[in-house]
Amino acid sequence: MKATRSIPVLFFLLCGTACAQQNRPDAAPYRAKNGMVVSQDLHASEVGRAVLQGGGNAVDAAVATAFALAVTHPAAGNIGGGGFMVVMLEDGTATTFDFRERAPAASRPDMCLDEKGEYDSARHHFSHLAVGVPGSVAGLYLAHQRLGKLPWKDLVEPAVRLAAKGFRLSPGLAAELAGRLKQFRKYPATLAQFSKEGDPYRAGDLLVQGELAETLGRIRDRGAAGFYSGKTAELLAAEMRRGGGLINMADLRDYKPVEREPVRGTFRGFDLISMPPPSSGGVALVEMLNLLEETGIQTAAFRSPGEVHLLAEAMRRAYADRARHLADADFVEVPVERLTSKSYARTLAATIDPRKASSSSPTTFTWPAQGSETTHLSVVDSRKMSVALTTTLEYSYGSRIVVPGAGFLLNNEMGDFNPRAGLTTEKGLIGTKPNLVAPGKRMLSSMSPTIVAKAGRPVLVLGSPGGRTIINTVLGIIINHLVHGLPIQDAVDAPRLHHQWLPDKLLVEAGALSASTRAALEKMGHLVEQRSGKQGSAMAITVRRDGTLEAGCDRRRPDSAAAGY
Ligand code: GLY
Repeated sequence: MKATRSIPVLFFLLCGTACAQQNRPDAAPYRAKNGMVVSQDLHASEVGRAVLQGGGNAVDAAVATAFALAVTHPAAGNIGGGGFMVVMLEDGTATTFDFRERAPAASRPDMCLDEKGEYDSARHHFSHLAVGVPGSVAGLYLAHQRLGKLPWKDLVEPAVRLAAKGFRLSPGLAAELAGRLKQFRKYPATLAQFSKEGDPYRAGDLLVQGELAETLGRIRDRGAAGFYSGKTAELLAAEMRRGGGLINMADLRDYKPVEREPVRGTFRGFDLISMPPPSSGGVALVEMLNLLEETGIQTAAFRSPGEVHLLAEAMRRAYADRARHLADADFVEVPVERLTSKSYARTLAATIDPRKASSSSPTTFTWPAQGSETTHLSVVDSRKMSVALTTTLEYSYGSRIVVPGAGFLLNNEMGDFNPRAGLTTEKGLIGTKPNLVAPGKRMLSSMSPTIVAKAGRPVLVLGSPGGRTIINTVLGIIINHLVHGLPIQDAVDAPRLHHQWLPDKLLVEAGALSASTRAALEKMGHLVEQRSGKQGSAMAITVRRDGTLEAGCDRRRPDSAAAGY
């Protein structure tokens, strides 16, 4: 759909009502009548709200929020990474946009091995070879061309201004940047962008990103071509040549985002709309919800031993299937229909003993670490068009490489490929074949932007960062809200659980289980371990029966914010 009219987005940016942040422990439920954006950063949520107030639809707001996050949430907001967008339109139809990074054409299956043929973790995760061909700009552009309403330039302009004029650093972001200085010193352009000539920024300082503003200006003026050709592409390709990376001008020119059919399922009368491969999220989520429905999760009390046992067993099985089958379906056969079918859930359910934990596998290896620095935003507009959008650089600040002269961070998403067939190590590498690197292939992801609907209307729009934990974070919120009836903020706040088949343990956030529940689970044979940090940062919006919107905005990260009107 073409942009139809221009709107005074900047007017609303200056004059919009004060944002109700959701990160205070005492915050009341944050509700809005018309439209809402929840994201990991207040500035970005406000940009999205201004777009909605100015007549933009949910896709417009998601695009503008995503570009703003590339400026104000540099750990994961990006133009140098990739992501997935799930959209439900006003008429109840749905679609998805896949703009996952791709392996450059010169990629080889052995590219993460050193001269002796040994696995080299630094190459895999922290080198120019770790950078996949970015997809974010092309994906946001395609989504806007297909479904946006407002002119493209109006959606990118707020990000240009945030980068050019700067924004005041929150205490959280200032501390985060200061803590990363050692890593940033390896790349002069990264150090220049995120420090005061090598000294840390402090809370309240103005962060101006001039080169990023120029790059965003080219994207504003030329659309995706402003990134994939011309000066931006030349600067990126030059940095690749300088650092021994593989991406060249042809890789950038040839990058194509893909509009795909969503993965669909049902759960207790609700419709599930989520992301298909190369995400593993949608398939695993539907598989787990089918299995939980089949095993009668609704009869178990919140956080009772019975409920947690069923959750852990569902997670174990879905993550085993994820490791065996999931990858880029453009390159390998992925049995999506079978894994998401009710009949498969019945087969799986028969393997669960209600009193005893299963064993994951006699083998000893664990699975490759996926980065947790991804970011999710959710939008619902006044006509109930809904967007769940998750984007990523893979690790926090991705490869940590800022493209000199272009001011944006590059991803290290190639680390999401399995590095070598058959290679398994104590440290957690895996060598299953479907997710091995190949030229042009997209690496497996766990990002799970999801919309839950009923009778063609959205009920819950959500997603989260967190690497492989993402799928379980989304699952937990759906169960908390739809099965246990927790208000969405409480469903998001509730301490989280994670089991990923291997290693065979149930990781829990502090406060997730009472002492007696934990003891009962251990008696069943579960190895329960409290994680040291937090799991994910979910951004959810629920549509209440009267049509009002309510935010579930994760307070695990300090700058998260909802903005509605
Ligand atoms: N980079 C994290 C993911 O795609 O799952």
